[in-house]
Formats: sequence, C-alpha cells, structure tokens
Amino acid sequence: MEKKQEKIIQMFDDIAPTYDKANHILSMGIDISWRKKACDKTYELAGAKKIGLIVDVACGTGDMIGFWQKRAKKQNINIKRTLGIDPSFKMLQCAKAKFPNFDFAKAKAVDLPLPNACVDILSISYGIRNVIERQKAFKEFARVVKNGGFVVILEFTKDDKNGIFHSLKQLYLHKILPFLGALISKNYEAYKYLPDSIEGFLSASILQDELKEAGFKTEYVKSFSFDISTLLIAKRC
Ligand SMILES: C[S@@+](CC[C@H](N)C(=O)[O-])C[C@H]1O[C@@H](n2cnc3c(N)ncnc32)[C@H](O)[C@@H]1O
Repeated sequence: MEKKQEKIIQMFDDIAPTYDKANHILSMGIDISWRKKACDKTYELAGAKKIGLIVDVACGTGDMIGFWQKRAKKQNINIKRTLGIDPSFKMLQCAKAKFPNFDFAKAKAVDLPLPNACVDILSISYGIRNVIERQKAFKEFARVVKNGGFVVILEFTKDDKNGIFHSLKQLYLHKILPFLGALISKNYEAYKYLPDSIEGFLSASILQDELKEAGFKTEYVKSFSFDISTLLIAKRC
C-alpha cells in the first residue's frame, strides 16, 4: 500500500514542472467555474464574514488556495490564515514560486501537521483519488476540522451512464487526454494513470457514505459538465 502511494507521489514529482500547462490545456479552463462554485457555495453555507483557517490538502501547485482568497475578497470575507499541504516536494516548489506569500507544508492526507479541531474549511480538489488510504484520510480530516466546519471535495467521479456524451467523455479520457498529456509532459504513464484512476474511483454516493462514516454530514452535492466532475460539501458533526 505504502509503495503504491509513494509511486503516485513520485509521479506527481515528475510531472510538476509541466503540471499547470497540461492542466490548462487539458481542462480547457472549465475547472475554473467548478472551483469558483466550490468556494462560493462553501462561503454561503458557512455564512460567516470571518474565517480562521482554510486548509487545502493535495494542494499541488496551489491554485485552490488562490481561489479561496480571491472569492473571499469578492465577498468581503476575512480569512485569518490559509495553508496548502501536499506530499510532493516538486509540486510544492511550483506552488511556492507562484504564491510566495502563501503558507505551504509537505505532508500526506493521512497525517496532517495540524492540531485537533483547528480547521474551518478543508478542501481537496482532484486529490482524494490519489489517496490510497482514503478512509484513514477522512478520519484525519474529522480530527482536524472543527465541529460545524466543512470538508469540500472536488473530484472526477465515476458515472454509470450510457449514451453519446458518456461515449465522448470516454473517448476524451482514454484516448485524447493521455496523448495530449504525454505530448506536453513527456510522461505517458502519468496521463494514462488519470483515466485509470477515475475508472477505479467511487461514485459520489459511496463517497458520501464514507464521509458519513468518518463524521461528516453531506450538505451539498453537484455534478458538473455531464458528470465529469462532482462537488461535495460536508459538515463536521
Ligand atoms: C491532480 S493533482 C491536484 C492538485 C491540485 N489540488 C489541483 O486542483 O490542481 C493531485 C495532487 O495530489 C497529491 N497527492 C498524491 N497523493 C497524496 C496523498 N496521499 N495525500 C495528499 N496529497 C496527495 C499529489 O502530489 C498532487 O499534487
């Protein structure tokens, strides 16, 4: 299990220098609206103008922290502190270069360098799929998130649908994306891993059951763009 996890982290180290460029091209920018929605809906549910700590786990090159900051500013919300956490040294290097004023720490989702019940909002965008010990990570999220605080998950979830859009999505994920990803990053394996890990991942309803088991109650679920991506917001209770 540990070996598999280390291999995944190593893969992100390898693609870190081209991650943003590849992400930009492969997503065609549609993830921007999903990220904005995640922040806005969470701020609406939290209903507070002052927020203590927002932590973004599996932060990669740090963009989600940027979104938390920008959307808060737009709504006159004051955030005391943000922290991006990721186990990939090279992803964090890119994050620090892009956002020199933000705080970052190197750690895995199962072992967060935080005291109990100190986090108001914990997000993980396109990261939970890569966490091998997912249920252990959810328990760790429950440890660090305050009672009444939120976990916000953005992820490519598996769908069981048929039809033309499903076929087009499969064609894009399994053929076009690995080809383009390999062209940009020179790493075919990493971009072959992406569709494979989505196929091997869970549906949104199973994800909700696992969060419930860890001590979170689902507050909001939304699928975007023909179920390519799902936003799940759950409250610590
Ligand atoms: C697809 S990237 C997503 C990055 C960023 N959150 C975004 O939205 O662009 C997945 C990230 O998960 C991180 N990761 C892999 N295994 C992890 C683990 N066990 N715990 C936390 N993060 C992990 C990788 O290092 C990588 O930065």
